[in-house]
Amino acid sequence: MNNFEFQAPTKLIFGADTIAKVKDEIPLDKKILMTYGGGSIRKNGVYKQVMEALKNHTVLEFGGIEPNPKFETLMKAVEIVKNENIDFLLSVGGGSTLDGTKFIAAAAKYEGDPWNILLNGGADIKDAIPLGDIITLPATGSEMNSGAVISRISTQEKFAFHSNFVYPKFSIIDPKTTYSLPEKQTVNGIVDTFVHTMEQYATYDVNTPLQDEWMLGLIKTLMKEAKKVLQNPTDYEARANIFWCATCGLNYWMSLGCIQDWSTHMIGHELTALYGIDHGESLAVVLPRVWKNKKNDKMRKLAKMAVEVYGANEFLPKNILADITIKKTQKFFESIGRRTKLSDYSIDKSDAATKISQRFKERAINLGEKGNITPEDVYEILMNC
Ligand code: NZQ
Ligand code: ZN
Repeated sequence: MNNFEFQAPTKLIFGADTIAKVKDEIPLDKKILMTYGGGSIRKNGVYKQVMEALKNHTVLEFGGIEPNPKFETLMKAVEIVKNENIDFLLSVGGGSTLDGTKFIAAAAKYEGDPWNILLNGGADIKDAIPLGDIITLPATGSEMNSGAVISRISTQEKFAFHSNFVYPKFSIIDPKTTYSLPEKQTVNGIVDTFVHTMEQYATYDVNTPLQDEWMLGLIKTLMKEAKKVLQNPTDYEARANIFWCATCGLNYWMSLGCIQDWSTHMIGHELTALYGIDHGESLAVVLPRVWKNKKNDKMRKLAKMAVEVYGANEFLPKNILADITIKKTQKFFESIGRRTKLSDYSIDKSDAATKISQRFKERAINLGEKGNITPEDVYEILMNC
């Protein structure tokens, strides 16, 4: 096991009918900017609950944060934060709203061009406006991590940053808020959670048996609960279990001391930046092909997963077991309605392979847990999508 340090400063408030508790988490003397997306919170009653809870607070609003939140939009909120002397940000909505709010929090205190936050991956953030959230979509784990992913329309780029300064002070997770999710978003969230777990699990083994069991346990739970929730979108227990899987899927607790990959996300972000497909869609397409490309490096973990998750015979050769995991994972995505080919999303694979491999070449970046996924591999991976 590798050495590690871990601190998770976010207070979680989890459960049915917990939104009203927001009033106790933000001091009355704070001037709040409440951020949200395209209006789902108005339709499902979450907006009303928040406003009722904060009726004695000072609350300004900033709506219209898009899925894959855009730098250009977020900079308008940064202006409001500065002009109005906002000293607390409250994100109400999905991962995009929360990621956007993390960016606003950091950009409002940043000296220089805020796009550099993304170019430097957050390394030079020295301060941020405090923030909390009411998260309404189980997917990103953003409610318990220090990361955010921001897109820029003008350059068709999508980059992540991380900083301890943008950990939410609190996150309120009421699984009932997810009853209103369109099925497409429920499925995206399940795929995202699956792939987060795999980016941390399916690498090479450094003797982390407990972490491996946790991660495979998460996957087994997620697959079971996914079926239930798709059959009955108002199954509270299933919604709650899915949300808890999503939060644990990317609070980095499960993979402490492990080796991580993240190449599927890096390639997926480029597909979203260039062609606009959803994050979850991009991951379902790329993951099986990354695994095929680096099967030898990932063999032990993929083989173990075939036995523990997919019930394969442990005495089969590891090579065959790894193939079983690749095939069955792709089938699982398809079984919950997430298509896994670029052509399913009207994307020309040779266009994508050429453009995206070129981008990694220009940035001089290799991907994967061994840094051995070269731009040429990226080309091959996408040609297999
Ligand atoms: O904008 P509104 O009207 O709120 O509608 C949203 C949006 O259209 C809707 N929605 C959210 N909660 C809802 C709801 N509709 C009905 N009922 C609800 N309860 O769902 C749509 C998608 O929302 P979005 O926030 O974009 O989805 P998600 O949470 O999947 O976030 C995706 C973004 O997160 C980034 C992705 O790259 C993408 O930009 N990621 C962030 C990570 C992190 N911070 O650690 C890690 C991830 O790997 C991921 O990259
Ligand atoms: Zn993701």
